[in-house]
Amino acid sequence: MASRRVYLETFGCQMNELDSELVSGQLRALGYSFTRERDEADVILYNTCSVREHAEQKVWSRLGEDKARKLARPAMVVGVLGCMAERDGTDLIRRMPVVDVMCGPGELDKLPALLDNAVRTRESLLADAQRNAEEPEQPEQTRDEPGVDSGNGSSPVASGFSGSSEFFLKRSARQVALQGNASRRSSTLAAAADTLEMLDLSRSVSPDDHTGSAYVRITRGCNKFCTYCVVPFTRGAEVHRPPRHIVDECKRLADSGVVEVTLLGQTVNHYRFEHGAAVTVGGVAQPQKGRSYTGGHRRDPFSGDKTTTFADLLAMIHEEVPQIQRLRFVTSYPRDFGDDVLAVIREHPRICRYLHVPAQSGSNAVLARMNRGYTVEEYLEFLDRARAALHQPEIGRPLTVAGDIIVGFPGETEPDHEATKALLERARYKNSFIFKYSPRPGTVAFDKLADDVPDEVKRRRNNELLALQLRISETVSAEFVGQTLDVFVQGVSRREEKKAIKASRYQGIALTVNGRAAAPDVEAPVVDAAGVQMSARTEGDVIVFFDAPGGSSPDDLIGRIVRVRIDSSTPLALHGRFEP
Ligand code: 5AD
Ligand code: SF4
Repeated sequence: MASRRVYLETFGCQMNELDSELVSGQLRALGYSFTRERDEADVILYNTCSVREHAEQKVWSRLGEDKARKLARPAMVVGVLGCMAERDGTDLIRRMPVVDVMCGPGELDKLPALLDNAVRTRESLLADAQRNAEEPEQPEQTRDEPGVDSGNGSSPVASGFSGSSEFFLKRSARQVALQGNASRRSSTLAAAADTLEMLDLSRSVSPDDHTGSAYVRITRGCNKFCTYCVVPFTRGAEVHRPPRHIVDECKRLADSGVVEVTLLGQTVNHYRFEHGAAVTVGGVAQPQKGRSYTGGHRRDPFSGDKTTTFADLLAMIHEEVPQIQRLRFVTSYPRDFGDDVLAVIREHPRICRYLHVPAQSGSNAVLARMNRGYTVEEYLEFLDRARAALHQPEIGRPLTVAGDIIVGFPGETEPDHEATKALLERARYKNSFIFKYSPRPGTVAFDKLADDVPDEVKRRRNNELLALQLRISETVSAEFVGQTLDVFVQGVSRREEKKAIKASRYQGIALTVNGRAAAPDVEAPVVDAAGVQMSARTEGDVIVFFDAPGGSSPDDLIGRIVRVRIDSSTPLALHGRFEP
């Protein structure tokens, strides 16, 4: 059988990007191939995000479009993976029976089995409909599936085969794996049966699969229950991976040429693994539900011989995998960021001086309603502490900080909004992600707090914060002009990608470069890259554009750290010259 072609589209955060990479590796190993065209796909998968309604709407519209595809190709399988699957449960299939497979983020190791079943189910539904169409004298009433809208009730037979396609467009193969509340069941039992760890452990690592940079998960889930956030419900309780697994994964990635690793966790700095409580199943150490942090520790209270703290983990990776020239981590939770971590970052040259620490608001009243667990003063004290330890522009190692803000949270007043502006001024983020509050069903804020800031007020405040952040970013950026920086080359710039689509000259580049193995079989032609604009990042995650020197091909530069002299800046990027 020809290999099944998969179209996989990812929405949302870095954790989803990593999940998609792991899922792709697993499916590829099982003989699936990948396509960038939905029209060519036998299997369409969306790895979804539920953090804001807007992200979900995009997926609904994709699914709407897929109805026509399924009419044309009824054997096709459509799957919804990730947070939307977990949040909506089987209601999603009821609303959109074009969906055959639902797989929550905690169940992705089961995806191959679900797909297999779904493909077979669709094939037999199809064969059944075909048989019925061919034998009209013996119509067989097709049973309605519980909860699935089977349309106007007409028999597939009555309307012939093309009509039956429409009929069973409304019939889902219904292959579902969701955690439900299992992820919050008794800690040791749930942790003992952590099959998702096998997905991370079986990660296929090959030089063809990356362009020098990789994500590595250290912590999954979240225990914070900020009142606006769906993550604790969709990704479950905070679970920490065994440090050996993490370090070994970093080593394998480094052996395949990765030089930049970003450690991932929703609250990444909560990482802690207590070896005395470790559970082993079938010879494999299992991820562990950590004891919760209860408040503002300067040093992990459980640190010691029997515990690998976040600071210990950073030091271990730095020491044991020296090929990794850049080690970074996202996203940090501001309250529990210890001095021990700051000291480790300061002492280890290959740990990036970059923090992503969302504040969410500059008003204490709003932070309290968000259940963030810190005050503005505590947040700013942390930033001061981090800068005192890590901001050393005089040795070429400034600390850059990025943040997140939610604007228009329930009850946000004009003085609250002014307080957020003041926080932005004080925090001096190199950039911040500013989101309009989006009420999410199932969260405390949705149930208990009226979404009472009118949309036009949200929009106005959002624009004011964006404009202010742009001014701040501009001054942060300008400080780099005149410096020569080490930058990690990620790919050709967007400008070049756009050109590539228009002109065929760089088509090979566009396909192999930024598209993270989306089309891994396409070889880039070696071209002289002179003048091709490359996109790179500083240690502090600031974007740098520079023109590739003559005589090189983009593939010579991508995935490498090179020196660039910065000539000019814009609020969100630097422009410079390659220094040989
Ligand atoms: N509405 C708007 N923004 C949200 N975020 C999380 N939940 C919501 C919501 N319901 C933002 C937070 C978080 C980022 C990932 O998304 O700022 O840090
Ligand atoms: Fe959501 Fe808060 Fe957890 Fe971040 S810390 S994932 S905002 S609940």
